[in-house]
Amino acid sequence: MDKAAKDPARIQSMFSTIAPRYDLLNSVLSMGIDRYWRRFAVSRLPQVENAVFLDVATGTCDVALEIIRRHPPGTRVVGVDFSEGMLELGREKVRNAGCGDMIDVRFADATSLPFEDNTFDGSVIAFGIRNVQDYRQGIREMARVVKSGGKEVILEFTSVQSRFFRPLYRFYITRALPFIGEMVSGKKGAYKYLPLSMLDFPSPDNFSRTMEETGLEQVKYYKLSFGITAVHVGTVK
Ligand SMILES: C[S@@+](CC[C@H](N)C(=O)[O-])C[C@H]1O[C@@H](n2cnc3c(N)ncnc32)[C@H](O)[C@@H]1O
Repeated sequence: MDKAAKDPARIQSMFSTIAPRYDLLNSVLSMGIDRYWRRFAVSRLPQVENAVFLDVATGTCDVALEIIRRHPPGTRVVGVDFSEGMLELGREKVRNAGCGDMIDVRFADATSLPFEDNTFDGSVIAFGIRNVQDYRQGIREMARVVKSGGKEVILEFTSVQSRFFRPLYRFYITRALPFIGEMVSGKKGAYKYLPLSMLDFPSPDNFSRTMEETGLEQVKYYKLSFGITAVHVGTVK
């Protein structure tokens, strides 16, 4: 996939365009499994009293809301994203869930986070890192703002390896997914970009190495649903 496809301005406007149908399409295209994937990622964050977590590329805030549901009272989340369209919907969901005091939703770029070093107990990004043009810088930034010993958790699609499942999966994401995506959203480009970005993403082993190269320790990953997604977890030095 060429670099231009991940031009930040292009990604920003693509997500703002699909924002109104984003949640619906997530559920339809993943048949509802996306909720389990996010729940698993959130379960890898440390359980600490009065913790503050950072949800990068928070989009419509599903991960931020899941953190509040799964952690003790007193937990707070800052959710950041660079698409105003997604943030608007995220803010509305947070308000409707009565979580306005617990989740702070802000505009920020993953590659240049507006926070001091060692601010958070953990950082998480779900289905965001593959869209970040300089994703190494994104990983570094997410580690920089986390306290020593805290966790960085990354949920992302991966390339399915199973010989039996792979052809079916490829057919689904390269043919069925763009078709359904276009039908439901009424937008062409975004759901063509999605399969390309999914197939283009490094394998879990390679991605783990990248996380280690950026300075994270004890990096491990969990493959979910036949390896359609993987959750990588690294400990901040
Ligand atoms: C597929 S959505 C994922 C949203 C949410 N995390 C979820 O689990 O549904 C990807 C999000 O990443 C955001 N994004 C992509 N690149 C970004 C960047 N460099 N900085 C901040 N947000 C970014 C997009 O605006 C979009 O909201």
